[in-house]
Amino acid sequence: MTDQSPLVFSRINGPDQQSGHEQVVFCQDRASGLRAIIAIHSTALGPALGGTRFYPYTSEHEALEDVLHLSAGMTYKNALAGLDHGGGKAVIIADPELHKSEVLLRAYGRFVASLHGRYITACDVGTYVEDMDVVARECPPGRNWVTGRSPAEGGAGDSSVLTSYGVFQGMRACAERLWGEPSLAGRRVGIAGVGKVGSKLTGLLLDDGADVVVTDVAEAAIEHVRRTHPQADVVDDVETLLTAGIDVYSPCALGGALTDDTTAALVSGNVRAVCGGANNQLEHPGVEKLLDDAGILYAPDYVVNSGGVIQVADELHGFSFERAKAKATKIYDTTRKIFALAHDEGVSPATAADRIAEHRIAEVSRLQSLYLGK
Ligand SMILES: NC(=O)c1ccc[n+]([C@@H]2O[C@H](COP(=O)([O-])OP(=O)(O)OC[C@H]3O[C@@H](n4cnc5c(N)ncnc54)[C@H](O)[C@@H]3O)[C@@H](O)[C@H]2O)c1
Repeated sequence: MTDQSPLVFSRINGPDQQSGHEQVVFCQDRASGLRAIIAIHSTALGPALGGTRFYPYTSEHEALEDVLHLSAGMTYKNALAGLDHGGGKAVIIADPELHKSEVLLRAYGRFVASLHGRYITACDVGTYVEDMDVVARECPPGRNWVTGRSPAEGGAGDSSVLTSYGVFQGMRACAERLWGEPSLAGRRVGIAGVGKVGSKLTGLLLDDGADVVVTDVAEAAIEHVRRTHPQADVVDDVETLLTAGIDVYSPCALGGALTDDTTAALVSGNVRAVCGGANNQLEHPGVEKLLDDAGILYAPDYVVNSGGVIQVADELHGFSFERAKAKATKIYDTTRKIFALAHDEGVSPATAADRIAEHRIAEVSRLQSLYLGK
């Protein structure tokens, strides 16, 4: 920890009328070459929590759009996960392969520390537990504004364990809604992407008695599944997966998996539900309505993949796997509640999820202004 103050350009202080964000901080450290943006969307439920994405954006504008979008998403995800955290996110504008260094991560850590806990960071695309260990070194003694650290540093380690577990809970809620029983036994589930999340989900589904068929673009990921779960079927690509007689489609690779074309393929493949770990599955607004109109049950991604953020939030209190798992188990109840509200109000599950999150945030804000005079 050094006492050098980082350069903070706080362009927006207080709620931004356009995007609704509370604060957006542009960070620059010439010595290390750091350029980053930290976006705090909301602290209504507590300190903003969300990962740091390390990505070679082509422009600051592109990075800003991404961080505003991702941080707002975290407000909704944290609210529905039942966490006492608001939404935030950060982006480091650089290629992690070329530009990641201790000096850059520590410069970034000083910006995180400069916010005095209004923003708590964690891993995201391009950042790993070892990076969070370095960033955390810039927190003042006794304060911890960095989570998702390595077990050696008191962290919880790989968050995909509870992410996959949460997706499985969401899928149980889909099964209950569709077939009356919260079990995938006898159903066929297609998983696209068997990396950290998808491979663990494969194991949970097989244990539950499901048939599992998987695909991945990486031969190493397929080899891993063949070795650890030889019962799973493997197909060449997502197109084949969607016509492999599956009941549930589980996107566990990149964002944008659900398009107009995918919806048409799901309909012709007679797929009944979509429930997966990937972030930002809906390629554009309106796909959720297409799915709903086609009678395909969509479990909103940010609800069912919140096991990871539940894990890193728990780490802030001294990690207890059992406590975090108990919280991730509630993803089943939350998903059921969303399906029930969607049915009652005649809206898609994605709209119902947003409404429940907004209601919780509004209620807490109302009580705060009532009792704390905020
Ligand atoms: N790891 C977590 O705790 C966590 C938490 C929340 C959300 N997520 C999201 O879940 C998704 C998976 O995360 P992960 O940690 O398993 O990542 P990962 O990188 O370990 O796995 C992703 C897998 O998808 C495969 N893939 C990429 N493009 C593909 C394609 N077109 N078709 C088929 N497979 C493809 C990759 O080869 C890789 O094996 C991501 O969208 C991530 O943002 C992860």
